[in-house]
Amino acid sequence: MEDFEGKVGVVTGGGSGIGRSICLALAGAGAKVVVADIDGENASKVVEEIKAKGATGFAVPTDVTRSDSVEALANAVVEEMGGVDIVCNNAGVYLGGDLLDTTEDDWRFVLSVNLDGVFRVGQRFSKILREQGRGGHIVNTASIGGFLSHGGAVAYAASKYGVVAYSEALRVDLESHGIGVSTLCPGPIRTNLAGSDRLRDPGEQAGGKSQALWEFIREGMEPEEVGSIVLGGIRDNAAYIFTHDWSDAFAERFQRVLKDFERLR
Ligand SMILES: NC(=O)c1ccc[n+]([C@@H]2O[C@H](COP(=O)([O-])OP(=O)(O)OC[C@H]3O[C@@H](n4cnc5c(N)ncnc54)[C@H](O)[C@@H]3O)[C@@H](O)[C@H]2O)c1
Repeated sequence: MEDFEGKVGVVTGGGSGIGRSICLALAGAGAKVVVADIDGENASKVVEEIKAKGATGFAVPTDVTRSDSVEALANAVVEEMGGVDIVCNNAGVYLGGDLLDTTEDDWRFVLSVNLDGVFRVGQRFSKILREQGRGGHIVNTASIGGFLSHGGAVAYAASKYGVVAYSEALRVDLESHGIGVSTLCPGPIRTNLAGSDRLRDPGEQAGGKSQALWEFIREGMEPEEVGSIVLGGIRDNAAYIFTHDWSDAFAERFQRVLKDFERLR
């Protein structure tokens, strides 16, 4: 996609951090933006920022863990904007902590947003994009943690490995429709992700804690920098959009995998 002027973008998790940054970058490039977030108040604040730039935006309180909510988002986008061109499937939560302390409630909490939510939004909006027949682009937010797993934060790592698999498959399937798909793999970004705990049902059995992330991201990149990186990736139809050069860690990971093929020789 060369030009964002007049295009319609939808960003889940658009009320904070990376999502907010993508919303503002899209608005700055002339797109109309739908800010979808479970936190409707934050989504509305981002819409105010979009309008302050002279761009068009509206907020849709959305819970990506619920099919009816995602359906309502899809209907609102089509009714209000007449269609969609760019879908940033970005809402996410984090829990850290040791593998052995991880509860089934931890696993469900993280997977239901990060993986089931990405699948739900991806399926619904890729159908709209296909039916429109005018191309488009989907960005699924995974993480460098979608390739590197070190034992802690296992539910998060599993969810992000899953997003990489879904996103890679979607890219292949949508190519013939002229729809690009990128997998966004951010490194440490200083966002509100370490506060994900606030979104948990108080009745859940909690083993992991989101605050564990703070040490990793406190000196990370400012979220404001991410939006323009994402727009560059959409322009180039990049398969992966990285924010940090972690290529050595990736090489080490894949060399470790390849090494065990030697046992077959
Ligand atoms: N911050 C990092 O270092 C980092 C690194 C790699 C990947 N990521 C990923 O980036 C994405 C954005 O996270 P962020 O760092 O900007 O964090 P953030 O907490 O600032 O933003 C996440 C947003 O998602 C929303 N959200 C959570 N559950 C939702 C639901 N069920 N439905 C709709 N919205 C929901 C939250 O309200 C919040 O506004 C996430 O997928 C995260 O896993 C972040």
